[in-house]
Amino acid sequence: MKFDKQTIAAALQAGITMNVQTTVDNSAIVLLEAPVKIVAARLSFKGSIGAYTYVRFDCRIAGRTERIGRYCSIAPGVSIADGEHPTDWLATHPFQWGADGWISAEDRRAHKFPALPVIPRTKIGNDVWIGANAIVLADVEIGDGAIVAAGSVVTKNVAPYTIVAGVPAKVIRQRFPSEIIARLQSLKWWRYTPESMLGVRFERIEKAVAELEKRKKAKTLVPIPEKLFKLSPAGFVAVDDEWDRHKHFVRYK
Ligand SMILES: CC(C)(COP(=O)(O)OP(=O)(O)OC[C@H]1O[C@@H](n2cnc3c(N)ncnc32)[C@H](O)[C@@H]1OP(=O)(O)O)[C@@H](O)C(=O)NCCC(=O)NCCS
Repeated sequence: MKFDKQTIAAALQAGITMNVQTTVDNSAIVLLEAPVKIVAARLSFKGSIGAYTYVRFDCRIAGRTERIGRYCSIAPGVSIADGEHPTDWLATHPFQWGADGWISAEDRRAHKFPALPVIPRTKIGNDVWIGANAIVLADVEIGDGAIVAAGSVVTKNVAPYTIVAGVPAKVIRQRFPSEIIARLQSLKWWRYTPESMLGVRFERIEKAVAELEKRKKAKTLVPIPEKLFKLSPAGFVAVDDEWDRHKHFVRYK
């Protein structure tokens, strides 16, 4: 389902950038933390996307996704957590679990079908960059600060601040020395607004970490205000604390 121009304009006002090619499947409910940009991507999961994350065109974020963190860059053509078919049943075809479109409503009522549970378990951390046309398989966890090279197929968990590449994706290197990675993991800079990090020498990692540690101690880093919206085929609405009780969503603290 696509959104009309009024809905897109209202979403933009709230900090959610979408366009007429942004699609949300019937079963999808996505918790978005403003600001986010989801342009010409297809969302078919029940889960969440954190603030400052952008998802570019031709991406598919599918039903086994649980959450995508803050400050992530999802390049064009990425596919995350699509469904898995059984490899040890008679067939791999969905008629066996009574999927829509293959079995008549009458037969679906008359027969019992084995269930194929779709459990959203794929988690993408914060500050994750997923390169163009990469495929992230279901049930994988990608740690904070990790990078997935263009065209990779990620079949296993990726540790924080690790760069992986290839099919299947293998580690090529760590982004930083382990001492810096440890400090970044305790700093958790993604809890804060970009404005409160301005002036930091982002291109000089040691200086950047030291400066952010100083600002954190001085409490001058401003936490991202949690402005949450629910996007579904019904449109988008602001959500309140009730959301915390929903099993699919995790707040970005
Ligand atoms: C992974 C990436 C960030 C480069 O990281 P890097 O650490 O600088 O890697 P290097 O270029 O030094 O390459 C290291 C090794 O990884 C390999 N490698 C790099 N990118 C690869 C890829 N996409 N797939 C497979 N192998 C790759 C290199 O061939 C090299 O192999 P070698 O050691 O056998 O020679 C970059 O290659 C990449 O994929 N960028 C994504 C670009 C993109 O999708 N942009 C979309 C815009 S959002």
